[in-house]
Amino acid sequence: MSKVKTVFYCSNCGAQSSKWIGKCPSCGEWNTYTEEVIEREKGTSSWKKKENPTAKPKTVQEIKPIPEERIVTHDSELNRVLGGGIVPGSLILIGGEPGIGKSTLLLQLALRLEKIKVLYVSGEESDHQIRMRAERIGVKNSECYILPETSTALVFRHIQDLQPQIVIVDSIQTMQTELVDSTAGSISQIRECAGEFQRYAKESGVPVFLIGHITKEGVIAGPKILEHMVDTVLQFEGDRHYSYRILRTQKNRFGSASELGIYEMQGEGLREVTNPSEILITQREEMLSGISIAATLEGMRPLLVETQALVTQAVYGTPQRTTTGFDGQRMRMLLAVLEKRCGFFFGVKDVFLNIAGGISVEDPAIDLSVIASILSSYEDKPLPPNICFSGEIGLSGEIRAVNRIEQRISEAAKLGFEKIFVSGYNKKINGSGKSRIEVIAVNKVEDLIRRIL
Ligand code: TYD
Ligand code: MG
Repeated sequence: MSKVKTVFYCSNCGAQSSKWIGKCPSCGEWNTYTEEVIEREKGTSSWKKKENPTAKPKTVQEIKPIPEERIVTHDSELNRVLGGGIVPGSLILIGGEPGIGKSTLLLQLALRLEKIKVLYVSGEESDHQIRMRAERIGVKNSECYILPETSTALVFRHIQDLQPQIVIVDSIQTMQTELVDSTAGSISQIRECAGEFQRYAKESGVPVFLIGHITKEGVIAGPKILEHMVDTVLQFEGDRHYSYRILRTQKNRFGSASELGIYEMQGEGLREVTNPSEILITQREEMLSGISIAATLEGMRPLLVETQALVTQAVYGTPQRTTTGFDGQRMRMLLAVLEKRCGFFFGVKDVFLNIAGGISVEDPAIDLSVIASILSSYEDKPLPPNICFSGEIGLSGEIRAVNRIEQRISEAAKLGFEKIFVSGYNKKINGSGKSRIEVIAVNKVEDLIRRIL
């Protein structure tokens, strides 16, 4: 009699253990171990039952270089985050919260490609539901095949009949392989199914997109392991109350890992946003205190964003510090710098900080603008119009240089800003002659205060 073999997996990072443990030794999370049945005698992967002649070792010189022919899609934002199009044989994971628009994004991709055979496997929706969605987006590609299926063995059988050029799997959590007994969505199922698609992609050269759900904490459900298996990880994010969506590269074996694509969710699907700065900055007539503009950079792309601060008298004992789209710890550090170096007193003030447009910014160059907006609200004095900021703040109140300052300056100039404050430590900044923008170098927060208030 064969014994049922079980293993415990950490649902956060995928670590494995033969017995239950309370705290995961690899990621430190508590109470994440779940038991799963594994059975491994069935051997071969289900997409190809026949034994494959194994690849022979070759020297690097023997391997024929194949020209990297990427599939360039109609979606310039997607091309950008993928590093210039879809690489043949790549495995791409797109993660995001439910309802953010992952299915819409990939169905749209499938429908807008022309003369490319796409297979869209859906384990989440029926073909009628997908048809309805396709009608909203607008059907173009006559070679877009929809397959509502969850068993990988059947999916691969259809793939062999159809020979698609791109495969989309919505979602990896709904797929199920015969190789393991546990239910769909469990760690071992996800890993095994992803492994099958990985082998298929590598052996056939067909790019495969996997959609993955995200847990509350923002990690792709289950699988840190998934992130290791795939070539590219894209994160689809955005505030559901705003229509803007951001597609961020988290890992990319074929390009930069800090790219960013911006979309707007509309009635007819997702629209690419090619001029993000113009929508992130509110055009207003009157001047208000607490508002300033930062020249930030996301990946290779300059982005001007609006930071809004509100400093008010604290009513309760402990003053509040609330941020949206910006790291709360970092704001507390900036407040400490203002207290220690410039003599402001925030102990009895509530401070709220918001990045407009529902996006979140990690570029440290936003610091200078954050400080400017906080001070503007503290003093209740609006900043002069048409100025923007780009610089990182150090603990001693120095304004530190940021990378690619020329690019930031020229974007600000393009959008009609008249002055930009940058760090004096940035070398060779001379407003590139032609542009009318005035570049003001400041070295310390005190200098900035003297200049703007
Ligand atoms: P969906 O792609 O189903 O999200 P996910 O696959 O990430 O769970 O997107 C769902 C949301 O998008 C839903 O609230 C409806 C909205 N939507 C539009 O606003 N316009 C459209 O054209 C489409 C297809 C969806
Ligand atoms: Mg979906």
